[in-house]
Amino acid sequence: MTRYQSLSLADAADLSRASVDVTAVLDHLVGDADAAAATSIGFPGAVDLDYSEVITRLGNRLWNNIGDPLDEGGTAHTRVLERAVIAWVADTLAMPADDRWGYVTTGGTEGNLSALHAAHRRHPTARVYYSTAAHYSIPKIVHMLGARGVAVNVHPGGEMDYAHLAAQVSRRRRWPAIVVATAGTTLTEAVDDTASIRAVLDEHEVHGHLHVDAALSGIPLALDGRLRLDDGSGIGSIAISGHKFLGVPTPCGVVLIRDSVRKAAGRIAYTATLDTTVTGSRCGLAAALLWHAIATHGREGHHWRATQARRLAAYAVDQLNAVGWRAWRYPHAFTVVLPTPSEQVRKKWVLASDGPISHLICMPGITHGQIDAFVADLAAAAPPRLIPRPRLRPDGPPSPSGTR
Ligand SMILES: Cc1ncc(COP(=O)(O)O)c(C=O)c1O
Repeated sequence: MTRYQSLSLADAADLSRASVDVTAVLDHLVGDADAAAATSIGFPGAVDLDYSEVITRLGNRLWNNIGDPLDEGGTAHTRVLERAVIAWVADTLAMPADDRWGYVTTGGTEGNLSALHAAHRRHPTARVYYSTAAHYSIPKIVHMLGARGVAVNVHPGGEMDYAHLAAQVSRRRRWPAIVVATAGTTLTEAVDDTASIRAVLDEHEVHGHLHVDAALSGIPLALDGRLRLDDGSGIGSIAISGHKFLGVPTPCGVVLIRDSVRKAAGRIAYTATLDTTVTGSRCGLAAALLWHAIATHGREGHHWRATQARRLAAYAVDQLNAVGWRAWRYPHAFTVVLPTPSEQVRKKWVLASDGPISHLICMPGITHGQIDAFVADLAAAAPPRLIPRPRLRPDGPPSPSGTR
């Protein structure tokens, strides 16, 4: 028996004893994670990029980007790399250079909080509309802000029901609207159509703010030219996760907000920084990791990664259907939706489930071999109860701005 196998990590009190074998504990954690990796296909973290250069060179000291990314000074920081990341993501989204601001966050949730906080400061009486397929962080943030939230129904595939949005807006037209569109819902990777949302607001003559929660799909859709924050888009802000498509080995993300939406922030005397971000101290290592992904692969490299991952997702749908498991996906998606299999299969493959449907996600780095092994397990399992495949809107050509 190896040292790590003989160690139990169940007892936290044992682990904080001064005599604990630290190396064995770390070996145990790495061993468990390595053992689980081959069957981890349910959560959206890419596993194909190698960040060891950054971890080796920078990983053993504090890099603190406290304050605003445009601040200078302080001790060791990576704000110059953070500014490069913000510029790259904003350029990829065609965001106007004279009306943009952003920073590297702890993840999609902080990005949503930062953007909705800015929108709520500008429109304090606004009602906040979001679909029932929106991430759970959205209603939580609405509650934290003390705002009024309005849930909007979705179509069976997870995309917002714009007729229901119109009905909800029409009953509240005397208040401004903050609408959260999701670009890549958590369960099915559905993309809300920002042009349809804008049309609803225009028709009801309601002004406000349009935020896009693009935690998973922001970068791949932007690289396709299908998600744009240009002037015509009417989109005021976007939040993206860094540990999803870019597979950064620490939770992180990027938020971008139109500068014209933000209100002035205070200067903190003792840090000599502007208080523009949700947290004070901020992880400079995350900014360096994001920058490394961008600098080493560029737009073409990341577009290629997205294309390969989508091909694998299409392959997974074909293979599942061939063994009688009725699976489907959106044409842009890495996510493959299928009827929920037995608990044994779900646990082994770490699938995310919501009642009758589950998903696997073909993130960059997942292999044909993993998909084949998963399909073999399903082929051997009890046949699924059939779930109807939702009628998806045709995946039309990109609109000149916004999402489609
Ligand atoms: C649509 C959506 N928004 C936000 C989040 C939250 O992102 P994070 O875990 O980076 O805070 C997720 C995570 O799964 C998500 O799917």
